[in-house]
Amino acid sequence: MSEEQAKVPQHVAVIMDGNGRWAKARGWPRLKGHQEGANSLRAILRACRDHGVKYLTVYAFSSENWVRPKDEVSGLMSLLKTFLRKQEFELHENQVRLRMIGRMEDLPAAVQKELQRVMAATAHYTGHQLILALSYGSREEITNACRQIAREVQAGRLDPEKITPQTIAQHLYLPDVPDPDLLIRTSGEMRISNFLLWQISYAELYVTPVLWPDFREPQFAEALADFARRHRRFGDIQ
Ligand code: FPP
Repeated sequence: MSEEQAKVPQHVAVIMDGNGRWAKARGWPRLKGHQEGANSLRAILRACRDHGVKYLTVYAFSSENWVRPKDEVSGLMSLLKTFLRKQEFELHENQVRLRMIGRMEDLPAAVQKELQRVMAATAHYTGHQLILALSYGSREEITNACRQIAREVQAGRLDPEKITPQTIAQHLYLPDVPDPDLLIRTSGEMRISNFLLWQISYAELYVTPVLWPDFREPQFAEALADFARRHRRFGDIQ
């Protein structure tokens, strides 16, 4: 294995930002930007398979996004439904497991149904995982973990002195998924926006000015090449 291959991140997380600006620059409705953004997601999922990235987590809808205009929210929800239907064949073809993090119960019933169906149909695949963050907020995820841990303490099953960072990690949405190695944010904003706060503690950050609808395989390959050049120290001095 070459050194470059050895440095492929196992888990890439993406804040897919800039759909609105991409559409606005063309005088088009924002939803057109989200539609093109969905095409970028398809392209990056394929690129993950080709480059050997096992986990891809994408911020598709934050718990704060519900305050957007009603038609944008409903447009995004129906785009999500279409995405799931259109993507299903390719998920099977490439043996990709679909999972989600966030408040499933907030989503419209039809979206929940579609998500549950595709997640169940792909649950046995072990090669790659696509994780959609939907109605997701990291502070809420950590708060839920604290609540569950508090219940275990209250029930006498857990000694507070035995709570470690691992205990917290085990109570997050998907405890079996390794932390992201690389976090990509498109459209140039230098923010984390309540995304995977716990899990990105040691992730390498890559911010590009490219807007999400323009972020395709060549831009992804550049992010991976940048990652391969980084020297991760995890607090050590070497
Ligand atoms: C941020 O761009 C993007 C979102 C809030 C939604 C992300 C959704 C997609 C990429 C659509 C495809 C995903 C699925 C799962 C169907 P923005 O609207 O905040 O852009 P702006 O900052 O330029 O306004």
